[in-house]
Amino acid sequence: MCGIMANIGSENAAREVLAGLKKLEYRGYDSAGVAVFNNALNVFKVKGKVADLEDHVKNQPMAGLVALGHTRWATHGVPAENNAHPHMSENGRLAMVHNGIIENYQSLKNFLIEKGYSFKSDTDSEVLVQYIAWYQDHYQLELTEAVRRSLGDVEGSFAFVILDSTAPNTMVAAKNDNPLVVGISGSGFYLASDVFPLTESCDKVIYLEDQEIITVHLEGDYEVIDFENASITPEVHTLERKDTVYSKEGFDSFMLKEIYEQPEIIARTLKSYVDTNLAEIKIEAIDLHRRIFKQAKRIVIVGCGTSWHAGLIAEYLIESMAGIHVEVEYASEFRYRDPLISTSDIVIGISQSGETADTLAAIKLANERGAFTYGIINTPGSTIARHTDAVSYIKAGVEIGVASTKAFTGQVSLLTLIALKLATITGKLHPLQCKKSIDEFLEVPKMMQEALLTDQLLGDLSQNWVNKESALFLGRGLNFPVALEGALKLKEISYIHAEGYPAAEMKHGPIALVDSEMPVFILATNKSALLKLTSNIQEIKSRKGEVIIIRNAGMEIDAALADYQIEIPAVSEFLTPLTTVVPLQLISYYIAKGRGCNIDQPRNLAKSVTVE
Ligand code: G6P
Repeated sequence: MCGIMANIGSENAAREVLAGLKKLEYRGYDSAGVAVFNNALNVFKVKGKVADLEDHVKNQPMAGLVALGHTRWATHGVPAENNAHPHMSENGRLAMVHNGIIENYQSLKNFLIEKGYSFKSDTDSEVLVQYIAWYQDHYQLELTEAVRRSLGDVEGSFAFVILDSTAPNTMVAAKNDNPLVVGISGSGFYLASDVFPLTESCDKVIYLEDQEIITVHLEGDYEVIDFENASITPEVHTLERKDTVYSKEGFDSFMLKEIYEQPEIIARTLKSYVDTNLAEIKIEAIDLHRRIFKQAKRIVIVGCGTSWHAGLIAEYLIESMAGIHVEVEYASEFRYRDPLISTSDIVIGISQSGETADTLAAIKLANERGAFTYGIINTPGSTIARHTDAVSYIKAGVEIGVASTKAFTGQVSLLTLIALKLATITGKLHPLQCKKSIDEFLEVPKMMQEALLTDQLLGDLSQNWVNKESALFLGRGLNFPVALEGALKLKEISYIHAEGYPAAEMKHGPIALVDSEMPVFILATNKSALLKLTSNIQEIKSRKGEVIIIRNAGMEIDAALADYQIEIPAVSEFLTPLTTVVPLQLISYYIAKGRGCNIDQPRNLAKSVTVE
């Protein structure tokens, strides 16, 4: 994974790089480093976050027109200073920042060891820079050609930026399967893992394509070639300038702020995709390809993590509302299992970042097999958005907390609209019923706002669970994926073992874990499942589990069945995931806070997983 950031041409290139790295920390934050050229190449690295790196360099001579930096999520080698990037070639000539995995690093390393090279780190990235250095020395090549020729022997995924200290007016970057964006500003070039860090300084960007190499010069010119040495004229895109100062706005974490933003995001989604005068759902990606959606035999949804959970909710909704067969798969499984895909299939990729490596690969596979691909994405211009036949954006805005909250409800709200829209296209939903559903949906922002009023109660109750070792989340129907999401939130930010299960399935294993120490969160907001759910609750109670029921206002559940009942406003059943998830997010937040965890940047995780 990792974030890479480089600058050539700014008065204080290192400062630009450090500022950019902060915006890329969502890609990893276990160690960081920066190299700046000022007469010589100076490299600084720390185990820790970009803020620690800033502290480390604050009294160092950092002025210089050329710098490159990195924020890391460990793949090869533990998080440690020696494994942090930039990595240098042994001769001290080259410095590189790399994102990706070099799969054949061991054979390249063996080759270099035989040639007498030694290594300071356990990383595949150091092997790559040393291998390029070997080519450069052995064949007396300038940097771009050394990069190009050495890549012929390299297997794996990469995006990297490399600097030759004997030619410091030039930087070279290459890409294969990992993103690299080149920002063009009045003062020079920015090279980064995505556009976030570029929006304040650049008007134009080039999205480097796979198997391309760019060479940028201090003088302001650049060349792009492919790995076969053919010259490429890249498309230059205009970038909307934005000052992206992210603020917690008085909340103590971005996650809490993002939880509280949800009602507004749902309202924004409805405003963007619903014509309330006509009581019609307008989704351009579907309207433009109406025939394809009408004739689709099957929809396959791929995604990872929280996005996969949103996909499961979409499966329930689309099948029941629109009558189209839906399958949901982890992108990482789909891409490697040789799936049967036909040209009458629609493959939907759901991704907040639009950069998740497995989801991107799944979409590329679906493209190759002739399916119509459709991205549900939060990040405009992201790689997945650029690789799908059609794309619709959720309206969540930038999500900073690593544990996804507002992006999840943003995805679920758009997917719910898509289900309704498809139901009108397949003729399963009468326009009058559609209007009724839209009217109910329009109430959801208010209902979510009311669900947020459980905040204080949940803050108090959560103290009971701060020292638990495990928790179960159970739901039926639409609440099963919500249970998965609740368990994921708790694991991610509090490091408590948690499992989400279909309530009935609990008897086939997890019930063995239930004792008086086990909090069991029951999602009882869907009326249709209530009777069956009540039996499941009895089964937990008989085993002395601590039962916490989340239910809709007006729902009667025997007080004796639950240790606690948490009431949230009633909404129509198809909308319940949007309200039910709110208390689960708050419970995770308060438990993690009680345990003193880093809520926005939990250990071992990254917001965007750009390696498989
Ligand atoms: C990581 C993040 C999750 C996210 C998942 C998929 O695991 O920590 O929050 O759900 O990746 O990311 P995507 O950007 O594709 O939705």
